Amino acid sequence: MRYCLREMRLTTLLLISLLLLHVLAYAPLSDDTILNRLAQPDTADFDIHTGNLLAPILIPRVPGTEGSRKVLQHFVEFFRNSLPAWTVTFQNSTSKTPTHGDNEVPFVNLIATRDPPWAASGNVGRLNLVAHYDSKYQPEGFIGATDSAAPCAMIMHAVRAIDAALTRKWDTMQAQGSTDPDFDEQKGIQVLLLDGEEAFRSWTATDSIYGARSLAEEWEHTMHPATSIYKTFLDSIELFVLLDLLGVSEDLPIPSWQHTSHWSYVHMAEAELRLRKLNLFRSKSRTWLPEKDKKETDGFQSYVMQDDHIPFIARGVQVLHLIPARFPSVWHTINDDAEHLDIPTVEDWAFLTAVFAAEYMELEGFFEQNPASQMMSRDDDDLISKDEL
Ligand SMILES: *[C@@H]1O[C@H](CO)[C@@H](O)[C@H](O)[C@H]1NC(C)=O
Repeated sequence: MRYCLREMRLTTLLLISLLLLHVLAYAPLSDDTILNRLAQPDTADFDIHTGNLLAPILIPRVPGTEGSRKVLQHFVEFFRNSLPAWTVTFQNSTSKTPTHGDNEVPFVNLIATRDPPWAASGNVGRLNLVAHYDSKYQPEGFIGATDSAAPCAMIMHAVRAIDAALTRKWDTMQAQGSTDPDFDEQKGIQVLLLDGEEAFRSWTATDSIYGARSLAEEWEHTMHPATSIYKTFLDSIELFVLLDLLGVSEDLPIPSWQHTSHWSYVHMAEAELRLRKLNLFRSKSRTWLPEKDKKETDGFQSYVMQDDHIPFIARGVQVLHLIPARFPSVWHTINDDAEHLDIPTVEDWAFLTAVFAAEYMELEGFFEQNPASQMMSRDDDDLISKDEL
C-alpha cells in the first residue's frame, strides 16, 4: 500500500453504489457473550517470538521465496489443524516484475471458505476478511509486521473464535428444518490471504497488487451454475473487509472511506465502542473508528487509497477498508518489524475483528460459556459470600 492516491469519478461510483445498495442483516452480540463466551486473544497466539498465530508470519516473505512458502504452509496447517471444516484452495498466477527481468514470479492467493453445509456454493453470499501476506522486496530483510503480518494473525484469530458458534448455528438450523437449500440466499464466510500486494520497484498500476488483480479478474469470469442466486464468484462477495497497517501504538484514526460500505463501518465502530466501555481492550489506544456518526449524505473521501481492494471496487464489490489515513511511522522502513508492533493493540484488533465477524454472521445465542469465565465466576462466588452482597 502506498500514499499515491487516485481520484475516483465520484458520480459514477455513487450511481453504481445506489444501484447495488441493499441492507444486509447484522445482529449485535450481547454483553454476556462478549464478556464470557467469546475467546479473547492472548500471548500464546500473539507473542512475537512464540505466538502460534503471529510469530511464524514475522519473517521476510517476498513472493516466490522460501519465506513466502513457509508462511503459506503456516496458514494451510492452521486451517487443517484448527479449522478442519473450512475448505482451503489457492488461486495462482505469474507475472513479470520490474526487478526480475524475463523471469515470471509466482503469486499464490490463499482462499479459505466455510459455507452452511447444505448450501449450494452459488447461493452463498460471503463476508470476506482480507489481508495481504507478502512482504516488500526492498529493503532487504524487510518484515512488514503491520504490513500485513499482524492483520493476517488478527483474521486467523477472528475466524477461529467464531467457528464453533457457526457449527452450532448451522446444526440448529438443520435440526429445525429452517433451511431451504434451493431458494434461500445463505450466508458464508471467507478468508483471502493475498500475495504480491507490494510493488517490487515503485508502485504503479502494473507493479503492485499482483495477487488481487489476478483474483478479481479470474472471479469476474468464473461462473456459478446457471440456476444459482449469484452469477459469478465475484458476486458472491457480500462485503470485502480489508485490514492493513494495523497494530502499532500510534494514534491513527481510520476514516469511513467508502459511501457504499458506511453501514458496515458504523457497525464496527459501535462494536469498538462497546469493547472499550466493557474495558476489554488492553491497549492504550484511543478511538480507531471515529466517523461513526457521519451521515450517508456527508462528504466521503474523494480518493481511494491504493490497496488490494482496487480491482474489486472497480468491479462493484462493497469494501470496508480498515487502514488509517496517516500511515504508521515505520511504514515501508526496516523498522516495520516485530519489535515495533504494539501487541495489546494487535490483540484488541483481533478481538474487534472477531466481534464484527460474529455479529455479521448473526451468532448471538450460539456461543458456549468458555471454561475460563466459568472458573472466574466460581472464584467470585467463593470470595464474595451472599451475606456481603
Ligand atoms: C498453487 O500453488 C500452491 C502453492 O505452491 C500449490 O500447492 C497448488 O497446487 C497450486 N494450485 C494450482 C491450481 O496450481
